[in-house]
Amino acid sequence: MIIILLGPPGAGKGTQAKILCQRLKIVHISTGDILREAIKSNTALGQEAAKYVERGELVPDSLVTKMAQERLTCDDAKEGFILDGFPRNLSQAESLDEFFNSNGLLDYSVIYLETSETTIIKRLTGRRICKNCQAVYHLINVPSRKEGICDTCGSELYQRPDDSESTIKNRLQVYERMTAPVVAYYSHKGKLLHISADNEAEKVIEAILKFLGKDS
Ligand code: AP5
Repeated sequence: MIIILLGPPGAGKGTQAKILCQRLKIVHISTGDILREAIKSNTALGQEAAKYVERGELVPDSLVTKMAQERLTCDDAKEGFILDGFPRNLSQAESLDEFFNSNGLLDYSVIYLETSETTIIKRLTGRRICKNCQAVYHLINVPSRKEGICDTCGSELYQRPDDSESTIKNRLQVYERMTAPVVAYYSHKGKLLHISADNEAEKVIEAILKFLGKDS
């Protein structure tokens, strides 16, 4: 099964993808996570990408498209995958189509997590992430038992640098300019399912699983 999760920053793509990949036993591929890992490891890709990620701009297609396609051809993606954060502009969507066509991957679902700006800002400013295991928390919605400490591994929680209010605003503008047309692109293909992602996480996952016919 192949699922593309679309939605603005903070819509809950990562949150839903983590639950879905366990339920459906397919791999979660997040281009944001791959880029953050490359930045942390200070690879050549990471050094180049950091300039864009910290400003909330898109990393150039010349870096991201090849990186995403290489990840999609890994063995663990053979049984299917959930794509989170890719494609993010029309050129990435077209290159993904070419990749799907040349690999005979004709059956995929596109789920659009529709979210209001008020919800997005609350979710992103309150998000905290474990420095070690990358578990995602929220100060109000998903608090850790002990403030600032991960429930799973006991490491410190941190705030993503691009979750500052000014960078969030830029990410939202970039989303409207570059990624919103991708939503229209899949809608014209008759591929798009709209889900209201302002709801609590359990309700959102319920709606997605129902659509996929995996709710029993
Ligand atoms: P990326 O990591 O993809 O960031 P994003 O799209 O901005 O999305 P987020 O990770 O911020 O949000 P999310 O929707 O996953 O929300 P989450 O589930 O964490 O990209 C980062 C950067 O990398 C980009 O700006 C760009 O520079 C670069 N990049 C990545 N891909 C690229 C590409 N293809 N091309 C070019 N550049 C690329 O939830 C947020 C918070 O809300 C959490 O605290 C969570 O606990 C909480 N929450 C989630 N759902 C709910 C709910 N239903 N109810 C209550 N709380 C909830």
